[in-house]
Amino acid sequence: MYKKILLTGINGQVGHALKQAFSKEALFSGVVIGLDRAQLDLTNHDQIRDAVRTLQPDLIINPAAYTAVDKAEAEHELAYAINATAPQVLAEEAAKIGAGLIHFSTDYVYSGAKSGAYTEEDETEPLSVYGKSKLAGEDAIRVVGLPHLIFRTSWVYGAYGRNFLKTILRLAAERDELRIVADQIGAPTSSKSIAEAILSVLSRLNGGLPIEASGTYHLVNAGKTSWHGFAIAIVEEYARLQVAHGWHPLKVTPANIRAITTQEYPTPAARPANSCLDCTQLARDFSVSLPDWRNALIAELQALDAN
Ligand SMILES: NC(=O)c1ccc[n+]([C@@H]2O[C@H](COP(=O)([O-])OP(=O)(O)OC[C@H]3O[C@@H](n4cnc5c(N)ncnc54)[C@H](OP(=O)(O)O)[C@@H]3O)[C@@H](O)[C@H]2O)c1
Repeated sequence: MYKKILLTGINGQVGHALKQAFSKEALFSGVVIGLDRAQLDLTNHDQIRDAVRTLQPDLIINPAAYTAVDKAEAEHELAYAINATAPQVLAEEAAKIGAGLIHFSTDYVYSGAKSGAYTEEDETEPLSVYGKSKLAGEDAIRVVGLPHLIFRTSWVYGAYGRNFLKTILRLAAERDELRIVADQIGAPTSSKSIAEAILSVLSRLNGGLPIEASGTYHLVNAGKTSWHGFAIAIVEEYARLQVAHGWHPLKVTPANIRAITTQEYPTPAARPANSCLDCTQLARDFSVSLPDWRNALIAELQALDAN
């Protein structure tokens, strides 16, 4: 196993979940140096170089990212500095010291026009500045040519952080009716599922990331739904757990969650209608598959008390 891991963005959903997963993993005997934005600002590329040179990790895991999808349309330079140039600098510095890099990307690298689930070989065609900046980050890492793994995930949420689950629970407590987009399909993916999968991948690698193992993988919870289906599931599962946990009741019932179209909910950034990602390659190469999205949702709801 790795001795020293540099983990970025520890206050983000995936960064936080990874930090927690490493701290609970009895088989991991190394050190995780987790840095937040104040300790490592990815817009400061000299700071990135200094951090890697000083800390000398043997693996860098980079879940930090500019994730404000709609704001990115107006903050092109900032999105690219964090999502494209920072991963490139991390990769260059990692290559110099013989370290590997694990990086995260997104379903938004695809257009969503395909009818079935996307495989890693499918053509990328991001619709938004965010998606383009994430794809530029992927490409930059591949050009550096160091041992790396890039995991494309989708619709990330969890008990910790700001996300769709938290927004729906807040709105469902305040309002009698919700209107949620039903014509975008994908896999809600919990931050905990992602972190557990990454630890499983690392254990399969048995302590090293050889250059031959480098690649880009889809990594999402199993199954699919729409944002509307996800919202209904959140309200249904919350209601089932509510009394036992002593949580406040919700105003909204599943029947009062109305399905609307993307056209009825315009946003600055266009989003893929089909975000489904095929994870066959992850299962084939690492024997890792993520739980069904609804089971992962129940686990995150049960973790709400601790967050
Ligand atoms: N969220 C999604 O639905 C989603 C979907 C597909 C793929 N992804 C990808 O999955 C990965 C993890 O996403 P996530 O959901 O964990 O994102 P997140 O919760 O938004 O966290 C992103 C983290 O990046 C940090 N960050 C932002 N700007 C930074 C900077 N200049 N320097 C250092 N850190 C900075 C943030 O710091 P602060 O805490 O200080 O703000 C935050 O901790 C990302 O690569 C993302 O692109 C996410």
